Amino acid sequence: MTNLKASTGPQFARIMAVGSATPSRVIPNEFLLQYIDSSDEWITQRTGIKERRWIAEDENITTLSLDAARSAIERSGIAADQIDAVILSTISHYHQTPALAPQLATELGIPDAAAYDISAACAGFSYGLAQAESLVRSGQARHVLLIAGETISEITDLTDRGTAFLFGDGAGAVIVGPSETNGIGPVVWGSDGSQAGAIWQTRGWQEAVAEGTWPKLGMDGRAVFKWATGFIAQAAKKCLDEAGITADELDVFIPHQANDRITDTLLRYLKLPENVVVARTIRQLGNNSAATIPMAMDALLTSGEAKSGQTALIIGFGAGLVYAGQVIILP
Ligand code: ACO
Repeated sequence: MTNLKASTGPQFARIMAVGSATPSRVIPNEFLLQYIDSSDEWITQRTGIKERRWIAEDENITTLSLDAARSAIERSGIAADQIDAVILSTISHYHQTPALAPQLATELGIPDAAAYDISAACAGFSYGLAQAESLVRSGQARHVLLIAGETISEITDLTDRGTAFLFGDGAGAVIVGPSETNGIGPVVWGSDGSQAGAIWQTRGWQEAVAEGTWPKLGMDGRAVFKWATGFIAQAAKKCLDEAGITADELDVFIPHQANDRITDTLLRYLKLPENVVVARTIRQLGNNSAATIPMAMDALLTSGEAKSGQTALIIGFGAGLVYAGQVIILP
């Protein structure tokens, strides 16, 4: 039998740098009251959200993704031609084909990179991180640029009382590369397609064309809330177990920013010590789907609330239903 060579790589990988981009339009809760019967007080109490950012006319998923990626590349100190793969996680890019990642790679001056999009909604960053880590450790890519870019405002139904206030736009990006010590713990991930109807695109392409309507995001908020505070809490605990650490060893907690009350429930379940820094970017940015975790990571590091080298638990969950999380060392 022919002996084929297998690729081999470094023992460990880590996140070398993070960058993010927020669009310029600030949308306070009051703005939405022209479309839905609600109040600033209700939205704040039920979700924590005070405002979110939406794209202006000169901004789109490409500009946000490029800005976040440029910032991550610059901070990593590596040259663009040392990146072998570009992964974009998104559910809001207009084109099912071609993927946006190849265009981003070309625009960023990354020659001949493997480039593709993935769709894992609000778990998309952790799904992509698991892939990036495996690509580096298997030697199939020296460095991976992982971007999570979303313009959910464009698929938000402003007249839907259950979702209009939840979503924002933005992008986050990381460079994953080789490391002397482990910087990315084992991923805990999975899916439950029987709950595909819990968060869904309200129309498939055929229906949208037939009806001449634009697809929007629909959600059974109560079902997702129940799943997130039950099953996802257990998955978050499993991330710690798989990484071989206890809650006491954690410095930072960055859950997907879906609802402050979901975050509070996860905190109680995990019994995290009071000194653990907890991401609460939902208050100013809303839910940016795949982008919430890298955007929150960048915000905490930039503000100094979190520090490079600290241990953080990240976990994302959303449409699919899908979830994924891991323990990481902050860049
Ligand atoms: N303004 C004011 N009142 C409202 C509104 C509103 N916008 N919407 C509902 N209400 C009322 C309801 O009529 C109801 O009133 P009643 O008690 O008199 O019947 C009451 O508020 C409670 O309604 P619920 O639907 O039970 O509201 P809930 O507390 O569940 O909050 C929310 C809704 C915020 C959407 C919550 O369910 C949630 O956060 N769910 C999870 C969302 C999530 O995690 N999404 C994840 C991923 S998204 C992705 O993957 C892209």
